[in-house]
Amino acid sequence: MLFLALGVLLGLVASASSLDNGLMRTPPMGWVPWQRFRCNTDCKEDAENCISEHLFKTMADRLVEDGWRALGYEYVNLDDCWEAKKRDAQGRLQAAPDRFPSGIKALADYIHSKGLKFGIYTDLGATTCEGFPGTTSIAIERDARTFAEWGVDMVKLDSCFSSSVTRAKDFPRMSTALNKTGRPIALSCSWPAYDGGLPPKVNYTLLGRICNLWRNYVDIQDSWSSLFRIIQWYGNHQDVLQPAAGPGRWNDPDMLLLGDFGLSLQQAKVQVALWAVLAAPLFISCNLRTISDEEKSLLQNPLMIYINQDPLGIQGRRVIQTHLLEVWKRPLVNKQYAIAIMNSATKGRPQPFVTSPEQLGISDCKAGYRIYSVLERRFLGIYMPDALLRSRMPPTSALLLLLRPLC
Ligand code: GLA
Repeated sequence: MLFLALGVLLGLVASASSLDNGLMRTPPMGWVPWQRFRCNTDCKEDAENCISEHLFKTMADRLVEDGWRALGYEYVNLDDCWEAKKRDAQGRLQAAPDRFPSGIKALADYIHSKGLKFGIYTDLGATTCEGFPGTTSIAIERDARTFAEWGVDMVKLDSCFSSSVTRAKDFPRMSTALNKTGRPIALSCSWPAYDGGLPPKVNYTLLGRICNLWRNYVDIQDSWSSLFRIIQWYGNHQDVLQPAAGPGRWNDPDMLLLGDFGLSLQQAKVQVALWAVLAAPLFISCNLRTISDEEKSLLQNPLMIYINQDPLGIQGRRVIQTHLLEVWKRPLVNKQYAIAIMNSATKGRPQPFVTSPEQLGISDCKAGYRIYSVLERRFLGIYMPDALLRSRMPPTSALLLLLRPLC
């Protein structure tokens, strides 16, 4: 009896000290405001674009009515600047009353009523990056409880104005506190990004135990140079990063820029192709009311999503890098493969490109492979392992291929 009681007790302790929430077995998908709407709090002059309950309800409506939810884009997340400048009389976080007059619980209820999930943002510093109240050490348990009461499904915990020592202590504490609420709440840890992203300062084994996803590197900005820099960093450090990812624990190279101002349509293909192969979270961050049909069709591409959401959850790796081209490869279920080929050159002429399954290290199935050009939505044909596949790639562009064995 004593042993049993002890076992139960130990079990409880173990489950309370790790996230262990069974969430996000495939990379999360959804919408976040930050890239497009930043900290726009001016609802008098810019009512349609300020951070307010109106914006989040509108985006939830768009996700449902424009086919996003049906494809898996299910999270609607707050980011910075949702809060009032002060906590309430009981010391709880509260929303800016003028911009969220119905309060956060009502917003979460609305989002849930649409069959979507609701995410919130806070920060371990005295304030968030934009100067709103943060979740300091003494507030962790209380804020976790408040989030659970509101019906939050995901927390993004940022690290502006915190120290390495605080982060090492408080990320695990928040993970435990969320677990203790009894509500399944996913945790996104903006921790490694603030500690250089690499060991020995960053412990990816620990992150995998306490967080569902984590920002490894710098904030993405609305430009090709920012996107390219991030892709290079993930390629250069793949030996560390690639094994860290798996079902329930994802590297997060940051939000999608499609639908914003900075990428050409060709460059937009690079981001979706690479994010699919990297098993990256797919958080759209644009104005869903005005996104172009072309960009919408890239984000809603069913095979791109199929690759991203592959249940094995193996992050792809860069397998070829020349001064013009890179090839990234991701193994999928049933011996399928996804291949992203990026032409990062800015030479105006489309680059001729020749490869074969064999040259990509894919030759197990002697009967050949059905190859799809995912973003072009084209079936290219059946290729024997040594058959040549020829293509021409515009500057700063990508091809995403899916190889399905006939064996
Ligand atoms: C940090 C994060 C961003 C965003 C802003 C908000 O920079 O990395 O993703 O949340 O804070 O202030």
